[in-house]
Amino acid sequence: MTSTEQSRRKYDALADRYEEIFFYVADMGRLLVDVAAPRAGARVLDVGAGRGAVARAALVRGCVVTAVDSSAGMVSRLRADHPSITARQLDAGSLDFPDGSFDLVTAGFLVQVLDDPAAALAQFRRVLAPGGTIALSLERQSVGRLGWLHELNAEFFGRGGEAADPLAADRLDDLLTAAGFTGLTRKEVDIPKPVPGPRALWNWLALQGVPQALTALPPERAAQFRRAFFAGAEAMHADGGIVLDFGATLHCGVSARRA
Ligand SMILES: C[S@@+](CC[C@H](N)C(=O)[O-])C[C@H]1O[C@@H](n2cnc3c(N)ncnc32)[C@H](O)[C@@H]1O
Repeated sequence: MTSTEQSRRKYDALADRYEEIFFYVADMGRLLVDVAAPRAGARVLDVGAGRGAVARAALVRGCVVTAVDSSAGMVSRLRADHPSITARQLDAGSLDFPDGSFDLVTAGFLVQVLDDPAAALAQFRRVLAPGGTIALSLERQSVGRLGWLHELNAEFFGRGGEAADPLAADRLDDLLTAAGFTGLTRKEVDIPKPVPGPRALWNWLALQGVPQALTALPPERAAQFRRAFFAGAEAMHADGGIVLDFGATLHCGVSARRA
């Protein structure tokens, strides 16, 4: 297992609203598949598929797509939304496909949430045909002008759930090389999303369950959070506008032929 029961429960709970909250994953899925450029008919495995941002982009290109995810909630939504994708509940570290079953393995924003990314990369290499392609996206860890909001969240809710030492792009390339991938390429992508005002930013936080989390705090503490949130959001709105600055790196490589 490369992720925990707690992580599975988190993604089960997010499944219905996932792509509404993480509005950039659909564009990122298309870009990742564009970079990998599979031919029509290619056998594609999308690991940690979520709601199918990457898998459906491969489907559009005429690929034969299998999608796996460790969250039962994500898999049942995948089956309902994309009947032509073969969807299964599987852990990235225990893929049960025969060696060399796929021409392309994709994983959008997955490796950063795994406890043991190296174990998953070894599986990806095993199930890839020699000369097959791997394509991964990795969220870039930059908070930009939203630093005040990250600090507020840390002050009121702690840093629970965030990796203490997030996977960096250089480290991912090292892990890919160690797993036997060659010809590595990397592309940086920025995904800014302007938000019309403080209320809209609050609504985005609401999708992530912040109002429910506030009910667990003493009422005065919850009121403090709201006051600090709207003060910070008003200041950002007045000073150049509110923008959610997301960024990603897209990593591609080739499964080296074994000697
Ligand atoms: C950040 S989301 C990305 C979803 C999708 N790839 C996208 O780009 O929108 C990570 C996904 O990986 C799944 N996941 C987490 N750990 C996993 C594991 N060990 N094996 C398979 N899937 C996993 C989660 O359930 C979730 O759907």
